[in-house]
Amino acid sequence: MNQDELKAAVADKAISEIEPWLEKDTVLGIGTGSTANLFIDRLKPLRDQFKGAVASSEASAKRLEALGIEVFELNSVGTLPFYIDGADEVNAHLQMTKGGGAALTREKIVAACAERFICIADQSKYVSQLGHFPLPVEVIPMARSYVARQLVALGAEPVYRQGVVTDNGNQIIDCYEFMIDDPVAMEATLNAIVGVVTNGLFADRGADILLLGNPEGVDRIALR
Ligand code: A5P
Repeated sequence: MNQDELKAAVADKAISEIEPWLEKDTVLGIGTGSTANLFIDRLKPLRDQFKGAVASSEASAKRLEALGIEVFELNSVGTLPFYIDGADEVNAHLQMTKGGGAALTREKIVAACAERFICIADQSKYVSQLGHFPLPVEVIPMARSYVARQLVALGAEPVYRQGVVTDNGNQIIDCYEFMIDDPVAMEATLNAIVGVVTNGLFADRGADILLLGNPEGVDRIALR
């Protein structure tokens, strides 16, 4: 199976995971990226079984709406039963690196409102230590150079992601050569730098369930 087939398999599995829980008033939290897109596409036949979705990006919102699924503002809904999203890296504690698609801030906000975070990923994303994938940090534009200097002091090699403006009007710095020993502590340290909006470590609030695709099938790893 190639990577796309593995992504499709975990998207299918995520549908099986949530379908029994769908009710007429259910609003789902939906992530961003190629794996999340496959999941969104599979929601179409179920669209009459739930109320709608909150999206973590403009791109996902457009994709949902194109399928006839109503998209709600997060402020107009309460707690979400599920947030379903991919990851750039995930470890055995279901801590993740996210933000390869620059949607990290909205992803973290929607995930915070969810009772269960279901991470859907192919096996290439599973790592023993976070940091192989450059860690994205969303910054207020005027703070970019200041934040970059603080990231150097922490041991990272920061690279400005040229030409990318987030849905929030901000910029992204990717941290290379930055292996993370303690994801929870580093998430807090990065968030404390003035000018940082969010960083791509999802450790303090990691996933609750990981659906991990491999050629033998989809493993379900649940911590809670
Ligand atoms: C978007 O900003 C990211 O957090 C994505 O969830 C992550 O990059 C995974 O994307 P793919 O499913 O395309 O690999």
